[in-house]
Amino acid sequence: MRGRLGGTSARAAQGHPHRAGHFFIRAKIRVVSAIDRPTGQPSQTYDSAFLKACRREPVPHTPVWFMRQAGRSLPEYRKVREGTAMLESCMRPDLVTEITLQPVRRHGVDAAIFFSDIVVPLKAIGVDLDIKPGVGPVVAQPIRRREDLAQLRDLTPEDVSYVTEAIGMLTGELGSTPLIGFAGAPFTLASYLVEGGPSKNHEHTKALMYGDPQLWADLLDRLAEITASFLKVQIEAGASAVQLFDSWVGALAPADYRRSVMPASAKVLQSVASYGVPRIHFGVGTGELLGLMGEAGADVVGVDYRVALDEAARRVGPGKALQGNLDPAVLFSTEDAVRGKADEVLAAAAGLEGHVFNLGHGVLPTTDPDALTRLVDYVHTRTQR
Ligand code: CP3
Repeated sequence: MRGRLGGTSARAAQGHPHRAGHFFIRAKIRVVSAIDRPTGQPSQTYDSAFLKACRREPVPHTPVWFMRQAGRSLPEYRKVREGTAMLESCMRPDLVTEITLQPVRRHGVDAAIFFSDIVVPLKAIGVDLDIKPGVGPVVAQPIRRREDLAQLRDLTPEDVSYVTEAIGMLTGELGSTPLIGFAGAPFTLASYLVEGGPSKNHEHTKALMYGDPQLWADLLDRLAEITASFLKVQIEAGASAVQLFDSWVGALAPADYRRSVMPASAKVLQSVASYGVPRIHFGVGTGELLGLMGEAGADVVGVDYRVALDEAARRVGPGKALQGNLDPAVLFSTEDAVRGKADEVLAAAAGLEGHVFNLGHGVLPTTDPDALTRLVDYVHTRTQR
């Protein structure tokens, strides 16, 4: 029954607040038979601090995980990735399982995030793209005309059977630690597809959005279908929560977001509502969009480091948990500074209905992993209830 975490981790097994009393918590779950996914199985993760915080229930301590916790900041990641391209790694269930577990073992975080990438479902339906090291996703034939939409067919579970297989392996290893599935939101995916790669100003994307609203709407709707199918595969395989990354949507003004993007994101979030797993919705530079991103259908709104969480809660309104929001660059400072800034985040979060501690964006590749481990311990200790 017990999650094995794929090997040994003295750290993760000892002294981790949510692992203490593990057995008793598990026993209680069986009695209440909490079900949080449609398999009819009592979920081992239901009573985790992370899922409780997402549901805005009282927690034993503030749960912590980090966007991009799996990746280049970890030497063990760099080692297992040696000689294997990024997209190929995402298609190998053994590697995906190992890489997803690495930060859980090392840092004792309260949730794992599935190791994959936002462009994996696009690759899986045959879009000619690659992830270039140090650059990001690059698309061979950018989508700018109606004919180009033919590149985007629906995604079936068979297209991503390696995802189902990896999640099956992972949930067995993770035991009571929840697994977060994820996908890129339609706007952020469209930005890569229309620009042909990473972009600072999103000029081609905006040109299409303003210049051909019908083609834009059709593109986003098609991406919403693909994204919805990709999230469903992950939930049905055993993911306990999902995060919709709209990383670059902060480039838009609220009126444009509401008119041209929100319907597609809402469609994605609505399509997985019936599973009852928490839906987290995150973007960078989205201070002005937080209310709308909540309205689009999130249970948890992810906040970057530019807006304090108490102010973010006012913008989002009641009935939603928040996730965030330590500036990832703070981890390059002294331990005292990290603690001070973490205290600021916790103080701003004190009145929230639910808080999941995270960074305001992903872990930077040159972050000292020990600084992350110390931060997890610090937040757990400070918030022990
Ligand atoms: O730990 C985790 O968070 C899970 C893994 C994860 C990856 N990508 C792995 C990855 C997640 C959640 C993503 C999402 C993702 N991918 C987003 C949304 C999150 C965000 O940061 O805003 C975006 C915009 C992408 C697109 C993308 N893929 C970028 C910008 C890059 C970085 C390019 C680079 O090399 O700097 C990638 C590649 C990528 N995805 C890496 C990882 C670990 C680095 C590749 C490597 O290690 O070789």
